[in-house]
Amino acid sequence: MSVSDADTASAAPPRYRTLPRLLHWAVALFVLCLIPLGLYMVARGEATNFDATTGSLYSLHKLLGFIVLWLIVLRVLVRLRRGAPPPVAALTPLERAASGAVHALLYILLLVVPLLGWAGISAYPALDVFGLFNLPAILSPDEGLANRILGLHGLLAQGLGIVALLHIAAALRHRFVKRDGVMRRMWPPL
Ligand code: HEM
Ligand code: HEM
Repeated sequence: MSVSDADTASAAPPRYRTLPRLLHWAVALFVLCLIPLGLYMVARGEATNFDATTGSLYSLHKLLGFIVLWLIVLRVLVRLRRGAPPPVAALTPLERAASGAVHALLYILLLVVPLLGWAGISAYPALDVFGLFNLPAILSPDEGLANRILGLHGLLAQGLGIVALLHIAAALRHRFVKRDGVMRRMWPPL
């Protein structure tokens, strides 16, 4: 390595490591599919009196939601253990506080939303996935409770969608308006 390479490497702004980047983009992809899928399957269930295709869409939603829950748990553990790179120096104190608050809220919703979904189908009970197997139950049957939990699941999932849209808008502003290197910390996915 030449002296100038070494200088460039040491001067490079810090970025998220490969595993947190990979998990960020995998979780983002799942969530950005699960929200429209959830909204569509519920609307379709009401319009078609729950036909077979709707049942399959529910199975797909439950399966993807269950998988992403474990990716999120892994992501939170990695984040707690390894922390995050120090913030970009050019950020104002307000931007630092706002991004910290939004990221914390995203993590909370990312954990609570799928846990409520799982608790809701446990209490209903509607644990079946494509008629092939059942997800494990974490609550005993109670349909009234299930309806309340699933109502909250849907509401908070829509809240997650709104916070995620704000987050994406902020990321695009950093990339195309401020051009301050924030996007480079999380890109590329691998
Ligand atoms: C991050 C993960 C998840 C997201 C973003 C998400 C999102 C959503 C959304 C947007 C809806 C529609 C709500 C409505 O229109 O009222 C929904 C409904 C639903 N979700 Fe999820 N979901 C996730 C994980 C899960 C998991 C893990 C399960 C179960 C294993 C699950 C089970 C359900 C069920 C059963 C409904 C239908 C509720 C009803 O009929 O009122 N979801 N979800
Ligand atoms: C096109 C979509 C997205 C883009 C362009 C994007 C971009 C970014 C960028 C650049 C960062 C690093 C911010 C920093 O350095 O301070 C970040 C962090 C983060 N993103 Fe996203 N993101 C997207 C979608 C999502 C979605 C859908 C979620 C979850 C619902 C999400 C959750 C997070 C979280 C929790 C962090 C904080 C990482 C940490 O410090 O541990 N992102 N995102």
